[in-house]
Amino acid sequence: MSNLLVKKMKWISVLALMCWSLQAFSQSTTDDIAKYREMIADGNPSELYEMAGEELWKKPAGPKNASLEKCNLGLGPGVVDGAAAQLPRYFKDTNQVQDLESRLMTCMETLQGISLQSIIDAKFGEGPKKEMDAIVAYVVTHSKGKKVQVSISHPQEKAMYEMGKQAFYFEAGPFDFSCASCHGSDGKRIRLQDLPNLTTREGAIAGWGSWPAYRISSGQFWTMQQRLNDCFRQQRFPFPIYGSDVTIALSMYMAKNANGGIIQTPGLKR
Ligand code: HEC
Repeated sequence: MSNLLVKKMKWISVLALMCWSLQAFSQSTTDDIAKYREMIADGNPSELYEMAGEELWKKPAGPKNASLEKCNLGLGPGVVDGAAAQLPRYFKDTNQVQDLESRLMTCMETLQGISLQSIIDAKFGEGPKKEMDAIVAYVVTHSKGKKVQVSISHPQEKAMYEMGKQAFYFEAGPFDFSCASCHGSDGKRIRLQDLPNLTTREGAIAGWGSWPAYRISSGQFWTMQQRLNDCFRQQRFPFPIYGSDVTIALSMYMAKNANGGIIQTPGLKR
């Protein structure tokens, strides 16, 4: 055998070994998370957020000293059960398609007199956004086990979905990334993270249906708005404005793709 061939074969086996160990390592990381999930299956740390959220929902607050108990999340004033499963949706009173966070902001503004800007401007996990996290945890828990059921029958809902689809495939930034670059095909993986294919129902329900979630690595509860914010960073895009149309449109796109799948919120993530 020539020297060159021996060298080539050596490299091929080294590369194969590297691929294999990476595979094995990533497998074990996934396993570890699964084990961790099992360990705390009866006690997802987001329960603490849910409890705080229930209190915040019922407690009079803001300049108008009112609770959120009359907040209409789409199924009537005060109805929390199953409401998150049908969001985003069109709301007549605001004449807007809203996701959970933007709808809660409307309730905080109209019922409690809290300024929207103070919520938008707050840092994630701090001040009014921290309260928002807890309230979101409370609301989504009441859709756990239900089916995603979003409608695009209203023209504005349809328009939002189309905008979300466009945004999902819109390539820009230093690497010409779109959401689809990382979430548009099966079997993608970044830094040992399995990335769901959000264009299929199976992938969309895995991704959309398991957020909001408690993140073990940061020890924090993240809403979908925060999840998206972080993916804009992954995409090397400027951060989107909290509750802005593009974030709602992307949620509409993912939720519609996930329609019929079972919701597993609050999720538990790396
Ligand atoms: C450069 C790659 C990249 C791009 C571009 C990207 N993401 Fe992500 N996304 C990730 C990674 C990595 C994770 C897992 C993060 C983690 O677990 O910390 C993730 C997680 C997610 C999840 C949760 C999936 C799950 O199963 O938990 C959703 C939903 C999501 N991204 C949506 C989007 C949307 C919408 C866009 C476009 C605005 C986008 N992502 C753009 C890399 C990307």
